[in-house]
Amino acid sequence: MNLLIKGARIVDFNKDFKGDIYIEKGKIKDFGSNLNYDCKTIHCDNLVVMPSFIDMHTHFRDPGFTYKEDLNSGSKAALKGGYTFVNLMANTNPICSSMEVVDYVLKKSEELNLIDIHQTVSITKDFDGKTLEHIDSLGKEIRFLSDDGKGVQESGVMYEAFKKAKEKGLIIIAHEEDASLASIDSRLSENIMTFRDIELVRTTKGRLHLAHVSTKESIEEIIKGKKEGLNITCEVTPHHISLYDNSYKVNPPIRNKEDVLALIEAIKAGYVDAIGTDHAPHSAEDKRGGACGISGLETAFSISYTALVRNGHISLNKLSQIMSSNPGNIVDINKGKIEIGYDGDLVVLDLNKEIEINSKEFVSKGKNTPFHGKKFWGEVVATIKNGNLKYNGGIEIDNR
Ligand code: DOR
Repeated sequence: MNLLIKGARIVDFNKDFKGDIYIEKGKIKDFGSNLNYDCKTIHCDNLVVMPSFIDMHTHFRDPGFTYKEDLNSGSKAALKGGYTFVNLMANTNPICSSMEVVDYVLKKSEELNLIDIHQTVSITKDFDGKTLEHIDSLGKEIRFLSDDGKGVQESGVMYEAFKKAKEKGLIIIAHEEDASLASIDSRLSENIMTFRDIELVRTTKGRLHLAHVSTKESIEEIIKGKKEGLNITCEVTPHHISLYDNSYKVNPPIRNKEDVLALIEAIKAGYVDAIGTDHAPHSAEDKRGGACGISGLETAFSISYTALVRNGHISLNKLSQIMSSNPGNIVDINKGKIEIGYDGDLVVLDLNKEIEINSKEFVSKGKNTPFHGKKFWGEVVATIKNGNLKYNGGIEIDNR
């Protein structure tokens, strides 16, 4: 698909200029000023165009819990939030411990033709906390392993998992929670597991990505590990950098102001690799029953932009880096940058628009959010994948 974007403020991790982008056969073919190509054109005066966002941490609940979300509703929520790539977690039913489930997800997603997906496989078979043999039979399309939501409780098993993952060139995504401490002290529970896994990386030389980091102590330990050169990356969620002293049920819980400030300082200093939404849609009934999670894809940009850029902490380049180029590098895909040959996956944004979040308007099946009724800056106006307009929130196309 060929498409010309005209007159936008174009921003990625290392560019910020007024100009045009030309996408040919789905890839970025040219960018600069005063480009002329005879094809479909979008005029973007007063709008910002960035590489679309890449989410390291998403739950679509398909197969098994499709009343909460399915690949169709989740992918549409992603597009409305400016995302064209998500990394799905394995806590489906059946749990994703085999290529059979991976193949089901990838095939269905391909048929939908909405966004691109990586399906994470569980570290232990069916989250049983001990069996690792299934890792031997994974296909080369698998890049991440995670027992997200549960974590691997036994240190000896996690030690073997790091070694096995390393042999296969896989990255372990860890939800850091010591189950034996969770109900006693959730902060200690996250910290202890973070310390343990960093120590395991130090010993095994494995590769770790730390999910939804929420405490000051955890991020400090990660910074220490990074300074030492350990092979670790981490993500923070929009809710953990914008809320504190709030009892909305999410795991890890919303922490204190000190924690929020420590996470923001770490982002400013370049120690946070990615914003991960931890998009966790639930039905109203499940939420009433105590389910943890926030439906986050549709609000991630506005919250992150407001908390980080509008509030003066980081530049828009830096936001693009943690929402697009860094996660693109971690996933190892040709997305997340405005570069010749990269996928023509872009998001069109109105940064001057103040929006009020209305969960009733979510296209996700999950309306669960603590942000309903709250105001933020920045709206996703359109999302483009491989030169095709996949979400249009009100942009005009000149069809030539
Ligand atoms: O709040 C959460 N919800 N945290 C998790 O780790 C899992 C997720 C879910 O799957 O609902």
